[in-house]
Amino acid sequence: MSEGPLVVVDHLSRHFTLTESRPGFWGSVTGLFSRATSVRRAVDDISFSLEAGEFVGYVGENGAGKSTTIKMLTGILVPTSGTVRVGGLVPWESRRENSRQIGVVFGQRSQLWWDLPVRESFDLLRSIFRVPEGRFRENLAELDDALELSPLLATPVRKLSLGQRMRCDLAAAFLHDPKILFLDEPTIGLDLIAKDHVRSFLKRINQTRRTTIVLTTHDMDDIEALCERIVILDEGKIVYDGATESLKRRYVREKGVVVEFHGDPGVVTLPDLPTVRVEGEGAKRRFSVPVDSVGVATVIAAVAARFAVKDISIHEPKVGEVVKRIYDDPASLTRPEPGP
Ligand SMILES: Nc1ncnc2c1ncn2[C@@H]1O[C@H](COP(=O)(O)OP(=O)(O)OP(=O)(O)O)[C@@H](O)[C@H]1O
Ligand SMILES: [Mg+2]
Repeated sequence: MSEGPLVVVDHLSRHFTLTESRPGFWGSVTGLFSRATSVRRAVDDISFSLEAGEFVGYVGENGAGKSTTIKMLTGILVPTSGTVRVGGLVPWESRRENSRQIGVVFGQRSQLWWDLPVRESFDLLRSIFRVPEGRFRENLAELDDALELSPLLATPVRKLSLGQRMRCDLAAAFLHDPKILFLDEPTIGLDLIAKDHVRSFLKRINQTRRTTIVLTTHDMDDIEALCERIVILDEGKIVYDGATESLKRRYVREKGVVVEFHGDPGVVTLPDLPTVRVEGEGAKRRFSVPVDSVGVATVIAAVAARFAVKDISIHEPKVGEVVKRIYDDPASLTRPEPGP
């Protein structure tokens, strides 16, 4: 049997039927006789596939359909139409088998037993998933190292702070060596240091164990740091699916080079590079470099050759800025690019 993609999502939709109560007096009167229903297409005919070892950012504005998708991929929710295969299984038909090959974190809600100490939750998971004792200890040691769990193990889950609980939830999702991790806002509410630990942990398991990871988050710095591929959802539809880098390249026409000189160099021009704009005055100037035609290194070399340079910094637009532009104007993705 040839190995296909690990996850295949094909024309997947999930609609919710909403009953709308009409506002006002006449609304309440007519409401007795007829209720208006409307259909919300939470996920609307999406298709994509994931190869083993991929780290994908699954992003979109509030209500775009991200959690609904994750719920179908994990078997919690049955779709209205379309198909999903996760490691060859249909998640909602084989929930138990599927749960052995996946790990899930819903940042909004703990998967752990609320009243049990963390350690006992972990032990329960070990027996549910029949993780061999040795493997379990190894995993726990690695997770403890990455997420600093030791001080938390004796505490009942309900007494943990949000960030502590999230670390335990992540650990719990990983104890049975899942092939795929579905993470729905796993860094929500984490402080900067905890976020950093979680990021390094995810990066490491993705690289060393080739765990496939789907990450849903509103934190574009997480995406920037971790995801080579990004899928953007808008009103239930996929509007972009591709490399994070090419998305940036598509939108980013310019990079900035900020140069601090030893003293005020006066008028600064780069005669050989007429398309590079120079802004600012005094000892600090900004060069806007059109990346399609001029390399940043060329600009730096040209500046350094003519002036005494003290410090240089390069400003690349972040994926968050690009994604925000797409949220504001999804049609910009399909419009032909403006000519020169
Ligand atoms: N059980 C439900 N019944 C009715 N509508 C629902 C249900 N679950 C989700 N929806 C609707 O489906 C749409 C998508 O919701 P979903 O939770 O998937 O969004 P999301 O992308 O995860 O958003 P967020 O960033 O806020 O978490 C929303 O409009 C939501 O109101
Ligand atoms: Mg959500």
